[in-house]
Amino acid sequence: MNRKLPIGVLLSGGGTNLQAIIDAIEQGRLDAEIRTVVSNRENAYGLTRARNHDIPATVIDHRGHPSREAYDRVVVEHLKGQGVELVVLAGFMRLLSPFFIRSFPDRIMNIHPALSPSFAGLHGQKQAFEYGVRFSGCTVHFVTEGLDEGPIIIQAVVPVLPEDTEETLAQRILVQEHRIYPRAIQLYSEGRLVIEGRKVRVTGEESDASAGSALVNPHIP
Ligand code: GRF
Repeated sequence: MNRKLPIGVLLSGGGTNLQAIIDAIEQGRLDAEIRTVVSNRENAYGLTRARNHDIPATVIDHRGHPSREAYDRVVVEHLKGQGVELVVLAGFMRLLSPFFIRSFPDRIMNIHPALSPSFAGLHGQKQAFEYGVRFSGCTVHFVTEGLDEGPIIIQAVVPVLPEDTEETLAQRILVQEHRIYPRAIQLYSEGRLVIEGRKVRVTGEESDASAGSALVNPHIP
């Protein structure tokens, strides 16, 4: 059996991405072990998801710390104490300080609900919907000190349909988030992600002939 990558998942909310990671581990698609789930909010449902699977879950409230870095120092110490090698941000609604990012260089991943570099920041789905793009999607990337702009690991594209609302688009994107996040972590676990400047090379990546055909929306009859 492959070595299991020790990961720590940070979240603030419902934790459907956490659930997708748990499911992938339980189904043998992801060689990782969740050492800890940390939430800055005590009522985050993601904590319950973790506990339902006997995964240690901890609340580290951001309130009451004198600075962003002071809070991050507590979180980093906790993650290191659990032997975490890869930090997985899964709906963690806080910016990380440079101290945090330097504590885990090239070892923090995030998922953004838009096709980076478009629509960075909060509510990527809503921004894309309101802009009127014909395609949106989601992006897993390494975290650097710029907002949602680190090297891209994997993206999934979804169409925006005429009958869509912000919610139906967000839901279509979320389905793809749940596919690509566990896959990105698995590629990392296999040691296949090589960061080369802005780019991530995936070693052993096979060329996909179907990727050569363009997506057009609305379609051309
Ligand atoms: C997702 O939309 C993700 O892209 C964003 O935060 C949301 C987290 O959702 N970063 P969940 O808590 O995993 O359900």
